[in-house]
Amino acid sequence: MQSISSTAGWTAAARELENVRADRILEDPLTLCTDAERRQWQEVVVSVLGYSPPVVAVRARMGDEAVKVAVDEGVRQVVSLAAGLESRAFRLQLPTELLYMEVDLPALLEARNQRLARTRHSLRPGCRRVEVAADLSGPWRQHVEDAGFDPEAPTLWLVEGLLPYLDAGACRTLLRTVREMSAPGSRLWCDHVHPDVFTASHYAPVLTSLDELGVLWASGWTDPRAQLTAEGWDARSWTVEELVFPRPDNPPPAWMPQVPARADTSDSGYHWLIWAHTA
Ligand SMILES: C[S@@+](CC[C@H](N)C(=O)[O-])C[C@H]1O[C@@H](n2cnc3c(N)ncnc32)[C@H](O)[C@@H]1O
Repeated sequence: MQSISSTAGWTAAARELENVRADRILEDPLTLCTDAERRQWQEVVVSVLGYSPPVVAVRARMGDEAVKVAVDEGVRQVVSLAAGLESRAFRLQLPTELLYMEVDLPALLEARNQRLARTRHSLRPGCRRVEVAADLSGPWRQHVEDAGFDPEAPTLWLVEGLLPYLDAGACRTLLRTVREMSAPGSRLWCDHVHPDVFTASHYAPVLTSLDELGVLWASGWTDPRAQLTAEGWDARSWTVEELVFPRPDNPPPAWMPQVPARADTSDSGYHWLIWAHTA
């Protein structure tokens, strides 16, 4: 498996750490990470920062809620780009007629299937789950279309934990493709880092390790709304801190649960969580 895909094990390890907290924002019983990935998350991130960044669990929980609200509003097509080891398709009660596509690199999907085969959890998604092997830094549209994507149907796109690994041009190209494939009424849940993280002194050792491991973030956004507006989306964004202490001029939508104030959320201004609709 490519080193970039080991980051899927790290986010799974972060969700696992969230599971055992009394004040958890997410419950994810199927995390699929290996001992080596758990150890690496601990060494590279948790022991350096002193906490497991809550953005991973908050992003996953809000992503769950985004799926639920989209389904309630009639959306029947979800495409998760860079799905990694995410187990939402198994975790949520989803309608049988919902098409839930999970796109990632071929080696990641293969490793994921081996891990799924070994798990003792029940693995019967309520929806129609389809895996699509594709490199999202190149042309991927055809792969998704060949796998049964309906261009006429409104889609919920999930792009969680991918954009920071793409350079600015690749992010633009990916989002342009997503927009071109989006029928009216489509939605997008995604995240990106704020460039300030690249100069934050306490993050420097984490970034050095990411660099050594070949998985350093390649881009960031100061203004997600402007980036997405330019691509034809009506977008809003929040940091985790802003979901803990909402600003009156930018309140989160009613379907987002309140994020509790915890010691680890006080340092959460480096990561954007973004919700957008086709404009
Ligand atoms: C940090 S993980 C996030 C996984 C999942 N979305 C989550 O939130 O747990 C990054 C994921 O991006 C995938 N990825 C990175 N570059 C990719 C590319 N060029 N094409 C497809 N997937 C890619 C990796 O394989 C990995 O699964």
